[in-house]
Amino acid sequence: MRLLHFLLVTLVAAEDGLDGWLRYAPLDLGHKHVSFPTSIVALNSSKDSPVYTAGLELQKGFKGILSQNLKISHDGRPTSSAIIVGTVAEYSKTSNKPLNAPKLKEDGFWLSTHGNTVTILGQNERGALYGAFEYLSRLAQGDLSPATYATSPDAPIRWVNHWDNLNGTGTHGSVERGYGGDSIFYKDNVIYQDLSRVTDYARLLASIRINGVVINNVNADPAFLTDKYLEGVARIASHFRPYGVKVGLSLNFASPQLIGGLNTFDPLDPSVVEWWRTTTNKVYKYVPDMAGYLVKANSEGQPGPLTYNRTLLDGANMFAKAAKPHGGIVMFRAFVYDSVNLKESDWKADRANAAVDHFKQFDGQFDDNVVVQIKYGPIDFQVREPASPLFANIPKTNVAIELQVTQEYLGQQCHLVYLPPLWNTILDFDLRVDNKKTLVRDVLSGERFKRNLGGYVAVSNVGVNSTWLGSHLAMSNLYAYGRMAWEPTVDVKATLDDWTRLTFGLDKSVINTINKMSMQSWPAYEQYTGNLGIQTLTDILYAHYGPNPPSQDDNPWGQWTRADADSIGMDRTVWNGTGFAGQYPTEVARRYERIETTPDDLLLWFHHVPYTHRLHSGKTVIQHFYDEHYKGAETAHSFLAMWKSLKGKIDKQRYEEVLFRLVYQAGHSIVWRDAINNFYHNKSGIADKSKRVGNHPWRIEAESMTLKGYAPIAVNPFFTASGFKGIVTTSNAPGTATTKVNFPSGTYDLAVGYYDIIRGKANWKVYINDKLLGAWDGDNEDKLGHWPSEFLDGHSATRITFDGVKIKKGDTIKIVGTPNGPELAPVDYIVLLPKGIID
Ligand SMILES: *[C@@H]1O[C@H](CO)[C@@H](O)[C@H](O)[C@H]1NC(C)=O
Ligand SMILES: *[C@@H]1O[C@H](CO)[C@@H](O)[C@H](O)[C@H]1NC(C)=O
Ligand SMILES: *[C@@H]1O[C@H](CO)[C@@H](O)[C@H](O)[C@H]1NC(C)=O
Ligand SMILES: *[C@@H]1O[C@H](CO)[C@@H](O)[C@H](O)[C@H]1NC(C)=O
Ligand SMILES: *[C@@H]1O[C@H](CO)[C@@H](O)[C@H](O)[C@H]1NC(C)=O
Ligand SMILES: *[C@@H]1O[C@H](CO)[C@@H](O)[C@H](O)[C@H]1NC(C)=O
Repeated sequence: MRLLHFLLVTLVAAEDGLDGWLRYAPLDLGHKHVSFPTSIVALNSSKDSPVYTAGLELQKGFKGILSQNLKISHDGRPTSSAIIVGTVAEYSKTSNKPLNAPKLKEDGFWLSTHGNTVTILGQNERGALYGAFEYLSRLAQGDLSPATYATSPDAPIRWVNHWDNLNGTGTHGSVERGYGGDSIFYKDNVIYQDLSRVTDYARLLASIRINGVVINNVNADPAFLTDKYLEGVARIASHFRPYGVKVGLSLNFASPQLIGGLNTFDPLDPSVVEWWRTTTNKVYKYVPDMAGYLVKANSEGQPGPLTYNRTLLDGANMFAKAAKPHGGIVMFRAFVYDSVNLKESDWKADRANAAVDHFKQFDGQFDDNVVVQIKYGPIDFQVREPASPLFANIPKTNVAIELQVTQEYLGQQCHLVYLPPLWNTILDFDLRVDNKKTLVRDVLSGERFKRNLGGYVAVSNVGVNSTWLGSHLAMSNLYAYGRMAWEPTVDVKATLDDWTRLTFGLDKSVINTINKMSMQSWPAYEQYTGNLGIQTLTDILYAHYGPNPPSQDDNPWGQWTRADADSIGMDRTVWNGTGFAGQYPTEVARRYERIETTPDDLLLWFHHVPYTHRLHSGKTVIQHFYDEHYKGAETAHSFLAMWKSLKGKIDKQRYEEVLFRLVYQAGHSIVWRDAINNFYHNKSGIADKSKRVGNHPWRIEAESMTLKGYAPIAVNPFFTASGFKGIVTTSNAPGTATTKVNFPSGTYDLAVGYYDIIRGKANWKVYINDKLLGAWDGDNEDKLGHWPSEFLDGHSATRITFDGVKIKKGDTIKIVGTPNGPELAPVDYIVLLPKGIID
């Protein structure tokens, strides 16, 4: 009876995702008799103190998990049957018990839990809060076993970056590469008065031990440095402070000119140096514990020192000197490259070379509070890249890695892609500096090159949506990011299970199913987007979302594939190509220099080969492309059945919201599969050995149907339409497309491939013999949050599926499309899928 009641209570409660993994859902203790602490002693009474916060959090957790109301006191005199939380120093003052905890690094903590006596001690106040969250996480996961252990972070820098703009509201949101709604900080050029979402976010960050947050876009608005906005920045900082998260600001290099009244921003000009000094002093008056600055200079149109023939080093050190007296650090991005003059006609030109070319020369000359922030790969958050060689080239410089929790090139939170396995390919990579073990993670921690400063940064573009990232499942990436920044060797599968237990409860089938789906998700995404290191073949000139392989080439952005009729890939060898392979230390360089020793999954990153080149697997490059795309789309479809098996085991709201996205992903994986396969099929003229590409026996092309008020249209790019054509309505009246079914009678899943563009809300209805099967609107732009498109293309292409439809040979299928504004009720095809067929 009790169990039943428990199930009912937990299942009916609607959950919107706002609590993330900090739900503190009731724990069913069954018949276990466990004695728990009955009070909390938090060894600091200042409301700004993370120790004070820890007290409140423990109270909240006990209420939610165990329905117990614990009193909090702040005066020492620890008693038994209490949770004591505080710093080691404070505890030693008040306790007469000797403490035999091992030495902790900054932010580390020691946890000892034995039934009703729990001691949580931090090396500092932040560490104490981390320990409280750790204890609550154990309880919430039903782990009541006694334990005593200490843990310290692998690296001191564990930050998130936000690319939030003050301005811009509207459909694209004010968060660059954000897919979960507009900024939680700003709206219409104003910093929110009500910052409660910031507190909620600070709580999530503290629970995964993030200690710094940069709150504005790297394409920075100089207005942040004015009094008007610094007042708001100070308020934001006051919301993060009780959670031990320090705030940082992105700077616009040209600020002295843009807002300072100077006629220059030359970093060696004394008036500029002075301006930054006084401005920084002012910033620290508003936020005395500010973490520091983040700078994107001379990149993608941003101003920087090169404007004055000064060096990046001059720029970085100017900020470092201004921030140094305040204990601030300067994160200087290595994402500097020429996006204007790079010419694909030059076989040796290579954007991937840029970071080492720009930064290696300055190794050893950066001030000690500068940290060079390096994207994980040499290009830009692609589905697969080799580790950036810059990690191996500046041993006398502090470095941090830049990851993306936001899935800019990885499905924009509309595709499930669990990222930690991808991050592991970089963090665990051995760069072999001086022929010695040099794991990227040991460079970041500072251990390999004996640096005091270094670590982890992730772009985390949460928004006002209650799901934070737009998708419930995407939150596992944020959670795991924090865990990995603390301990990069953590098991990414086990971490995922922790997240699932905290987010969805303790049901084993829920845990195992989400684990299986998530672990398959990045490999599947790689399969149906870009293989063999060719990069995510998305539209790099527009949305970074749907497929568009030719957009990579014939422009100066340098994300080239060099695909022609016979061959594909970037020749990055030293002997004949761009020389990029030679930026790695000898052992690694040698491996990538030769096709024979380059792993298949990076073949096209390093080599230009014929489509008929045989991989280590024995397959040709082109057949590998075809096969992988079919496999990946199949896997994406398999997520649906897996998720559906959890119906009733997850609250309805989150079950339905995730289901909607998985249905969408399955459909969009077909868009990807067909677009890439059509494109390379057309380019190479080489047939698919399994005869699938260009051959869809169960489809009925819209342009082949009987049309009234609809007309065929050649879709551009051609490979984003089945048969390269679709149909659109010809006036603002509804159009109809009709066809007689010529397939055997039976039960089919009926899918309609169509396009949903950003403007207008067209409506579609499908009838079978004049009986309505279903209707829907073109409102994905409201439901999905990915960067949408105004055109018929790989971003707007989507489909809807009706399961188990009984159809007889000779039945009539009719689509009635009602246009709305520029959305002309476009349709690509209908497909009748017999059981087991995915197409
Ligand atoms: C209590 O917390 C405040 C705010 O974080 C801090 O300034 C102070 O040093 C703390 N006191 C002790 C004794 O740790
Ligand atoms: C908002 O500000 C960013 C950064 O300063 C700028 O790039 C963008 O164009 C602005 N957008 C609008 C709508 O003003
Ligand atoms: C920078 O140097 C280049 C060539 O060395 C020169 O043409 C240019 O005028 C210089 N620019 C400035 C702002 O000094
Ligand atoms: C969050 O996004 C979903 C679509 O993904 C939307 O339906 C919902 O209204 C949004 N909620 C909030 C609070 O913005
Ligand atoms: C060597 O480079 C040239 C371009 O300079 C290219 O056409 C050729 O295919 C490359 N050779 C090999 C074997 O990759
Ligand atoms: C590729 O497309 C072009 C037109 O875009 C067409 O002329 C050509 O025949 C196609 N090639 C193949 C192999 O499909």
